[in-house]
Amino acid sequence: MAEWQRTHTCEQLREEQVEQTVTLNGWVLSARDNGHQTFIDLRDRYGLTQVVFHKADNADLYAQAKELKSEWVVSVTGVVRKRLEGAARADIPTGAVEVEAKVLRVLNECPPLPFEVNEFGTELANEDLRLQYRYLDLRRRSLQRVLILRHRLCKVIRDYMDANNFLEVETPLLGKSTPEGARDYLVPSRVFNGEFFALPQSPQLYKQLLMISGYDRYFQIARCLRDEDLRADRQPEFTQLDVEMSFVEREDVTGIMEKLAVEVFDKCLGVKLKTPFPRLSYAEAMAKYGSDKPDLRFGLEIVDVTDLAGASEAQFLKDAIAAGGLVRAINAKGGATAQDAKKAPLFSNSALKPGGELAKVAETYKAKGLAFLKLEGGKFTGSLEKFFSDELKAKLVDRLGAADGDLLLFVADKEAVVCDALGALRVHLATRLKLYQNWWEEKADHDASEKKKSDAAKKKKETYAPVPFQPRPEHFNFLWVLDFPMFGWDDEEKKWAAMHHPFTAPMDEDLAHFWKNEELGKVRAKAYDLVLNGYEVGGGSIRIHRQDVQSRVFEILGMTIEEAKGRFGFLLDALASGAPPHGGIALGLDRWAMIIAGTTNIRDVIAFPKNQRARDLMTGAPATVDERQLKELGIKLS
Ligand code: AMO
Repeated sequence: MAEWQRTHTCEQLREEQVEQTVTLNGWVLSARDNGHQTFIDLRDRYGLTQVVFHKADNADLYAQAKELKSEWVVSVTGVVRKRLEGAARADIPTGAVEVEAKVLRVLNECPPLPFEVNEFGTELANEDLRLQYRYLDLRRRSLQRVLILRHRLCKVIRDYMDANNFLEVETPLLGKSTPEGARDYLVPSRVFNGEFFALPQSPQLYKQLLMISGYDRYFQIARCLRDEDLRADRQPEFTQLDVEMSFVEREDVTGIMEKLAVEVFDKCLGVKLKTPFPRLSYAEAMAKYGSDKPDLRFGLEIVDVTDLAGASEAQFLKDAIAAGGLVRAINAKGGATAQDAKKAPLFSNSALKPGGELAKVAETYKAKGLAFLKLEGGKFTGSLEKFFSDELKAKLVDRLGAADGDLLLFVADKEAVVCDALGALRVHLATRLKLYQNWWEEKADHDASEKKKSDAAKKKKETYAPVPFQPRPEHFNFLWVLDFPMFGWDDEEKKWAAMHHPFTAPMDEDLAHFWKNEELGKVRAKAYDLVLNGYEVGGGSIRIHRQDVQSRVFEILGMTIEEAKGRFGFLLDALASGAPPHGGIALGLDRWAMIIAGTTNIRDVIAFPKNQRARDLMTGAPATVDERQLKELGIKLS
């Protein structure tokens, strides 16, 4: 061992080591000087240790230490001392001790950085800058914690899957397109110019083939690649826990996943979840919550009022109904109640005008506008007031459970628009009405109050150990959404599209509809989504295991027999070669990590993510390639 090498990590020293000589290696997190002593906080992956250089002890060494700057890499050899009374820190495990330096070796210097790596107290640099210097960003404790947690999550999953007889099998990255609804990332072949591999949108077909090969229970922590519009919870490269099982029905798959969720939340967060998770049909989820991934941490149910609107004098509502649409409403409880001394309600009329706060949410989802009624002092006001008779108003009050101070919001349109617009409004209102709190927001409040206590104790030269925050089961609202329609009509392409993917089996009770072209809208699929706090965190299905049923799906999706054979001939052949009944699911691992780590930004849980425009700002990928490479691939740029 070289003499500069560490004897301990920056997390290991305690009072038991007092008077021992130790060597630590790490980065200078911060340095401060009081004219007699220089203190540095030395940081490594494991933790933080305070190092002190006394002028009186060794003036040269002290002078050397005064030169240290943030993020220099150093080795310090010194003696462990107990900190002075009142100087101990209860918030870090090494807080009772410090290292009195005897030798300092600078292993590497570091120029001033584009942003501060120390996140305690300073504003976070903007995200693009952080992504450009991701190797610096990853030094921050909060990101380290997330990656450690992500490691733990994968470990818990692997142990659980292994204990339940699942085999982890790797499947190819270079393959053929697997339709999951996004664009493929293509890789040109050098050997076969003009031909392309597609990077997998998921291992879907391979895992089904593994079932046909008899592997019975498969899983993989699999990378998936999808060229699609990005959102806060979407990356072009993401990770799934991909699962497939033979001789199963829906309840077998959901049961295994619920037990996995219990294990994960217990081991990663100390939260004891209750099972079975609630179940909701797709139809009910859309009607009540306007979404197939409803957040049920709050109520705010959507209510159908088509009949009452039809009986009113509001021509625009009647027109929407006559055009095959419907009218639904949501009660923003207390939205018209005065919030402050100025008697300003939470939502003023300008929030409801076109472009206003609430109207904008509805308009984003193609609603033509937002009609409203306010109930104040027993009287109605608002855009719909003059169109509804007293009798109809009384029925509205009854159906929407309206009380004084409530704001009733209405959208009239085609069902899909009404669902989307009111579904989005529901989520927006819940945030504004503070109907729920994310666990990490509650943690932030808790931590701030604990810090106050510990600061107060410090003033009195006492130590106070902050109580860590413990998330609770009610912070995590899991549910299954079931009975999805098998096909959705694509109005632009004028053809049927698979709602899940084309390998999903129709429900047995809907098989009669399945074979009739005019009844395809009535077919439901054996598909299921797992939803957590309004995020879709998993999706799967029981698969088609009969060749004739699979061929029929391809036909419904508009493929000729030749096309189907050309694209999926291997699957059709395999299905005819002794395919067992099988089914599975894929969990969005990044989304699980997000919720468990307490963030709403998927980039926070991926070591090297792409930005919102699918670019890697650190390496600059995607990038141009040289002429020779293009030539080898037989590609000419236009
Ligand atoms: P699906 O397309 O529903 O199903 O994907 C499964 C889960 O993966 C997550 N997910 C994503 N996460 C981050 N970024 C993305 N771009 C992204 N896209 C999807 C979601 C989603 O629920 N082969 C099927 C699974 C099956 O049928 O077994 C599939 O991939 O959490």
